[in-house]
Amino acid sequence: MANRGDGAKKLAAEYFRQLSEAGETEVYLPPGDVRSLRGERTSRSASPAGPAPESSAAATASPADAPRADSTMKTPDTAAAPSASTAAPSAPDIPEPEIISAKFAFSSKATTSDMFAKSAGLETCTTLEEVEARAVVCQNCELAGGRTNVVFGAGNPNARLLFVGEAPGRDEDIQGVPFVGRSGQLLNKILEAAGIERDDVYIANIIKCRPPGNRTPFTNEIEACIPYLGRQVALIDPRVICTLGLPATQTLLGIRGSMGSLRGKIYVEGNVKVIPTYHPAAALRDPKYKRPIWDDIQLIKREYEKA
Ligand code: URA
Repeated sequence: MANRGDGAKKLAAEYFRQLSEAGETEVYLPPGDVRSLRGERTSRSASPAGPAPESSAAATASPADAPRADSTMKTPDTAAAPSASTAAPSAPDIPEPEIISAKFAFSSKATTSDMFAKSAGLETCTTLEEVEARAVVCQNCELAGGRTNVVFGAGNPNARLLFVGEAPGRDEDIQGVPFVGRSGQLLNKILEAAGIERDDVYIANIIKCRPPGNRTPFTNEIEACIPYLGRQVALIDPRVICTLGLPATQTLLGIRGSMGSLRGKIYVEGNVKVIPTYHPAAALRDPKYKRPIWDDIQLIKREYEKA
């Protein structure tokens, strides 16, 4: 007689078949899930195709909280998601996220003490081109001296979905375009696998110039640069914003916390939702971040399609 374990195994087999069809060559499974797939007893209920436990995704400050390793990393070029040229595999079960009523740092209701409120006179700019024209001559912080290009942002100026990363890396600085290095290639794969067209969305960073050696941006650099992103958000007026990594997440939400504690939730203010996830560089460094990123991207896609 079939038991519950057989059903779970069938589900898992179907999920792995879809991943394989979509080009995935490896998956990360927490040890407990591997044991339950093998039919061994575990202390928690078996969820073979379910999400990796949050504890594996960094409870406090973790390597994934500091992902600036784009052009220097020596990690295998593994994808967070199936590198699909075909349809995306359906997520077996997206855990229902906690919905959090938020007051975003970039919202029009932000107080004058919030860094986004210092608009640097950009409110007179009524198009992204005008804002960019101001950004390319910006000397508001010392990063201006080391840049090859200002990496303003790219994509659909009317996008309903905006991705916000941390800062340009070496390749972005050279090309003047966000997310074109290894993290960007992985982001492309994730978007493709999820069935999201990169050309339909807008991609920007919290700071527009490359920090030396790809270090994490300093607070004064973020403060100097954030009015550009603030104006970009106001003009694009997206419905869903995905923050990639801790600096972008903390800056836009205006709250502190680890990625492990901030992700897996939908933050809502008015008609805008912010959905944080790990930076793609985290998954390049450690495959255990693939699964939570994949879960988050399913959520983002669902909310984007509703928007
Ligand atoms: N990492 C980022 O956060 N942004 C980029 O544009 C590239 C890499």
